[in-house]
Amino acid sequence: SQRKEIDDTLATFTLSTTQLQEVKAKMRVELERGLKKDTHPTASVKMLPTYVYRTPDGTERGKYLALDLGGTNFRVLVVKIRTGMRNSVRMYNKIYAIPLEIMQGTGEELFDHIVQCISDFLDYMGMKNTRLPLGFTFSFPCNQTDLVSWTKGFKATDCEGYDVVDMLREAIKRRNEFDLDIVAIVNDTVGTMMTCAYEDPKCQIGLIAGTGSNVCYMEEMKNIELVEGDEGQMCVNTEWGGFGENDNIEDIRTRYDREVDGGSLNPGKQRFEKMTSGMYLGEIVRQILIDLTKRGLLFRGRITERLKTKGIFETKFLSQIERYSSHLWHKLRSILQSLGLDSTCDDSIIVKEVCGAVSRRAAQLCGAGMAAIVDKIRENRGLDHLEITVGVDGTLYKLHPHFSTILKDTVRELAPNCKVDFILSEDGSGKGAALITAVIDKYLYAMR
Ligand code: BG6
Ligand code: GLC
Repeated sequence: SQRKEIDDTLATFTLSTTQLQEVKAKMRVELERGLKKDTHPTASVKMLPTYVYRTPDGTERGKYLALDLGGTNFRVLVVKIRTGMRNSVRMYNKIYAIPLEIMQGTGEELFDHIVQCISDFLDYMGMKNTRLPLGFTFSFPCNQTDLVSWTKGFKATDCEGYDVVDMLREAIKRRNEFDLDIVAIVNDTVGTMMTCAYEDPKCQIGLIAGTGSNVCYMEEMKNIELVEGDEGQMCVNTEWGGFGENDNIEDIRTRYDREVDGGSLNPGKQRFEKMTSGMYLGEIVRQILIDLTKRGLLFRGRITERLKTKGIFETKFLSQIERYSSHLWHKLRSILQSLGLDSTCDDSIIVKEVCGAVSRRAAQLCGAGMAAIVDKIRENRGLDHLEITVGVDGTLYKLHPHFSTILKDTVRELAPNCKVDFILSEDGSGKGAALITAVIDKYLYAMR
């Protein structure tokens, strides 16, 4: 029957506990491979050292400029940190657009645009003549300050393999209007961890479930073979979005995942990210809907131009549609209508089921990955039981009605020896970038 055909399709998105345990175990293997010198070059999870040795301790102070690039919004910020009490951070920020043709144009155009936004912001703040230290939250994989590869929606030319600080510095020089000290390049996971750790010292993990998906955490120096020294800890940017690039999760990828991957800017790359993050979940949904329609199970078998349009289902759409229970199908239907999709009552209920299956799997996969991380930290420290806090940011986590609950339930089930708290980063990761800049700035000052 038609119902059975739909159920069979959605069943390919259901993961058993055993399957999730397998994902956790495979993630663990990749975390280890990324940390070891000989396996690092071929590891799917890059485990990039960040040279951040500690979370903030409350002694940070100063006035900093911060950039936040790579999530939904590009922001320029001024962050003032006063010492003494926590919660004494003040921020001013402005959001700027990055047009698609700049995200995917030349590197020079991209960095010129960024500098133009900084210039506008300094004018707006009346700060053109104050030379501030700058922390740059740059939400892409970086090896020290070199961009490894673009991910998500960016594909500007002549950037991969180049130093991000140099590219920004050169763009500032080209404009020849103001000067800045670029002190730190920070991944958004690290910025988020630092922001949250400022309030809660137990926070030693940063998670982004937004446009992209990624985690950082405090690893023991002795396990990070790429960095000299065995004492203490360092934050590692896992770049777990790349998990699966060595074909080890093909058993759980569906034809729809492959379709989405094939149509992306980076085919074959970031396979885990493409199953778990906001930029791609709507695309998976769209591929399923196209298939169900072709098979005559949906939208009276008619594929509209609308349905063929890439990117119509943004994260916020999944969140909206899953917020209504099925008896409110007229609400569901009006959301679909606003997208230009003409649906019956049955159609709208099926669309909701599709969204539910896709986002549920995403949350479970993130949970399985997180279970691998917390158990590794627990074992690192030789503990039977670990209590730890994860600082989280990202529109998927913040806006979706079920994602965070399913994520937490999965972690609880797969890592029963860890008590994991999740706290939301309220101010984004720009504050974290400033805190890191403050830590480094203090260190540089001491060196002078
Ligand atoms: C923001 C952070 O709050 O969240 C960014 O300041 C981060 O650094 C972003 O990249 C992640 O979420 P999204 O959904 O905007 O990609
Ligand atoms: C992508 C980026 C990663 C970032 C994540 C969340 O996975 O590669 O660096 O942390 O998106 O924004």
